[in-house]
Amino acid sequence: MTRIKGVFPAAGLGTRFLPATKNQPKEMLPIYDKPAIQYVIEEAVAAGIEDILVIIGRGKRTLADHFDRHPELEAFLESKNKPELIAMIRNISEMANIHYIRQKDALGLGHAVLTAESFVSNQPFAVFLADDIVHPDNGGKNAIAQMLEIHEETGCSVIGLEAVPDEKVPGYGVIAGNRIREGLYELTGVVEKPPIEKAPSNLTIVGRYIFTPAIMQHLHETPPGRNGEIQLTDAVSTLLKKEKVYGLTLKGRRYDTGDPAGFLEATIEYALRSPHADQVRQYLRTLTAKL
Ligand code: G1P
Repeated sequence: MTRIKGVFPAAGLGTRFLPATKNQPKEMLPIYDKPAIQYVIEEAVAAGIEDILVIIGRGKRTLADHFDRHPELEAFLESKNKPELIAMIRNISEMANIHYIRQKDALGLGHAVLTAESFVSNQPFAVFLADDIVHPDNGGKNAIAQMLEIHEETGCSVIGLEAVPDEKVPGYGVIAGNRIREGLYELTGVVEKPPIEKAPSNLTIVGRYIFTPAIMQHLHETPPGRNGEIQLTDAVSTLLKKEKVYGLTLKGRRYDTGDPAGFLEATIEYALRSPHADQVRQYLRTLTAKL
């Protein structure tokens, strides 16, 4: 398998989730009992991506702390004879080689990815948006592993997709493409958050991308777009005029945890996969009886 690096833009201001995100990173909000970004870093690691750059902004220090050692907590757990908990928190700090860089100005997702230019050093790389969590199907490959297969087959950039109902389309990047086979498209166009009447399809971009290094040149040349920000989607739109870009509908359950409703869905469903599932299921039954 190709050893590619992972880039995690996490400098966004989380305005869809205020006030919770006023002073804490949206990527650190717990989905049941684990911060959102940890699920996504675990996805990368499970697919063999262990060199990771997290792009942070001001006020995101807790994110770096989470993946650091915590000697006081370890000593405390030692004194209480809790070896499983010690192993669990040590594993968080050892699972990957995580580097951090600051995006000094919130100039958009495309600008954030550009700050990874020297880290990726002219090699293909993966981009993960930590507020998108994709829970794999039973026994199935995780999202980025599914995309790596297509990248290895084609050598091209690959973008994760989900077909969504019409009312959700304007919240995402949307693709136009020719179907190659079940779930696989060769992109012919891409547009960031169009109104539904202008959307070319209902195939929307999930926060998973594998890029050839050429994307960096396109990002350099991308002017500010929607919201005055440098949009990653706009750079994809010029990239696909130069090289083939594929879109793959991802197998698995996708959660957009960047807004309160998607966050709640994810939290409930992860609770139902946890050791406390029976208790949670029982509670939900009493709740639905009251509705
Ligand atoms: C970003 C991308 C968008 C994509 C989405 C996936 O939007 O710009 O194309 O569909 O992530 O979650 P954001 O959620 O940062 O507004």
